[in-house]
Amino acid sequence: MITLISDVQKEVEAKEESKAGAEDVISHETPPQTQKNIRVPLYQRLFYSKLYNSYNWSALLDKNWLLNLITFGMNKKLIQACCSEIEMHSKVLQLGGTFGNQLAELADSVGYYGRLDVVDINRTQLSRMEGKYETLYPQMHFIRGNAEDKIDEEYDTVVCYMLLHELPIASKTKVVENALHSIGDNGKVVFIDYSQPNYWHPLRYIVRMFNRLYQPFAEKLWDRSIDTFAKDNLDYIWHRTCYFGGMYQKVVAVKRPKMYEATSTVSKYL
Ligand SMILES: C[S@@+](CC[C@H](N)C(=O)[O-])C[C@H]1O[C@@H](n2cnc3c(N)ncnc32)[C@H](O)[C@@H]1O
Repeated sequence: MITLISDVQKEVEAKEESKAGAEDVISHETPPQTQKNIRVPLYQRLFYSKLYNSYNWSALLDKNWLLNLITFGMNKKLIQACCSEIEMHSKVLQLGGTFGNQLAELADSVGYYGRLDVVDINRTQLSRMEGKYETLYPQMHFIRGNAEDKIDEEYDTVVCYMLLHELPIASKTKVVENALHSIGDNGKVVFIDYSQPNYWHPLRYIVRMFNRLYQPFAEKLWDRSIDTFAKDNLDYIWHRTCYFGGMYQKVVAVKRPKMYEATSTVSKYL
C-alpha cells in the first residue's frame, strides 16, 4: 500500500495534538492537597503525653467511677450542666475529646438528626474515641486538628469541656476566640472547667498543690474569668455558674444582639 507524505504528516499532527491535549489535561488537574501539618503542642508533649498517648492509661481514666473520684463526685453534675445547654437536633462542636461518658451524653442530647463534631489533636485519643463511639453514635464525627485553628463551619453550640485548664495562656486565648467565632448569630459557647474554690473550701490548698505539680496552667483559671481571654468580650453576654464551692464553673457565652446597624441611618442624612 502506498502511503502519501501528506497522510503521514496528518498522522503526526494528530498524534501531537492528542499529546498536547493530554498535557493540557494534566496541567489543569488540581495538584493533590498537601496534608496540613498538625503538630501536637509542646504543653501536651511535656505534661500530658504519657496519659494521652497510652491506651492503658486512657482505658483506666475512661472509667466513670475513677472520674467521679477525681472530680469529688461532680462528674455527673458537670456533664448534666453541659448537656442542659444543648438543643435536640442541633449542630455542636466539641473542642478536645474527653474520658468517661461525657461525649455519649452530649451525643444523646444532640440526637440522631443532629451533628456532633469532636476536634482533638491527639491521634491515640482520636482512635480510642472512634473505636468507642463510631458505631453507636452516627451523629458523631471526629476531626484531627488543633482547637486553636479556625474551623470553616458554623455551629449552634461549641463546647469546651475541661480543656482550658490544660492550655498555656496564649493557647487559652486562641481557643476561646476560636470557639466564639465558630458560632452563628443565635449560637452559644459552653465552657466547663476549674475555677477558684471559695476561701473556706477544705480542698482548696490540696487542689492548688496538685495543680502546681501536675497542671501548671490550671491556676490561671483561678485568677481570671474566662471572658477576659476574649478580645471582643463585650460583644457577648456571659453567664457563669459555680459548682462544688466554686471549684468548677460553667460559663455560657451568647452573642449580644446588635442595637444598631453597622452603617447608621443617621449618617445617611448628614
Ligand atoms: C479536653 S481534655 C479532657 C480531659 C479531662 N480530664 C476529661 O474530663 O476527660 C483532653 C483532650 O483534649 C485534647 N487537646 C488538648 N489540647 C488540644 C488542642 N489544642 N486541640 C485539640 N485537642 C486538644 C487532648 O488530646 C485530649 O484528648
